[in-house]
Amino acid sequence: MHKAGRAKAEKHMRQLELKDSMKIGIKELDDQHQQLTEIINELYYAYMQGNHRAVLCGLITRLNDYAHEHFALERQYMERFVFEMPDYEQHMQEHREFFTDAIGFLLRYIEEGSEITPEMLDYLQGWWKDHVMVRDKELGRFLRSRGVTA
Ligand SMILES: [Fe+2]
Ligand SMILES: [Fe+2]
Repeated sequence: MHKAGRAKAEKHMRQLELKDSMKIGIKELDDQHQQLTEIINELYYAYMQGNHRAVLCGLITRLNDYAHEHFALERQYMERFVFEMPDYEQHMQEHREFFTDAIGFLLRYIEEGSEITPEMLDYLQGWWKDHVMVRDKELGRFLRSRGVTA
C-alpha cells in the first residue's frame, strides 16, 4: 500500500471501539455490535499488517455472515412493532446498503480479486458508526419505551 494511504487510514481508523455513547441499551444487540466492531478492527489491523489474502478473505466472510445474523435479529425485534415504527423501511434499506456498499466493496475483493484500499475500510467504519449511532440508537430508544431491554 502507498505510504500516504496507509497513514491516512491509520489516522481515521485507529479509534474504532464501541464506546458507551454507542450503546443502544438492548443487551443482546449491544453484544453483537461489540462482536461486529471487533471483527471490523481485526480486518483493519490485518490489512495494515499486510496479511495474506486468505486471512483478509476469512475476516470479510466472517463479517458478512455475522452481519446477516445481526440484521436478522434486529428485524425480528422491529417486526414485533412494525406498525408503530415510522423508520422501519429506512432502517431495512440501510441494512441492504451495508451489503451493496459498505462491505460490498470488500466482497468484490473476494469475488473479483480487486484491490482493497484504505478508503474502503474507512467507508466501512464510517457506515458502521453512523448506523449504530443514528438508526440503531433510535431502535434502542423505541424498544426500551416498549419495555424491551434484553
Ligand atoms: Fe445493529
Ligand atoms: Fe440496524
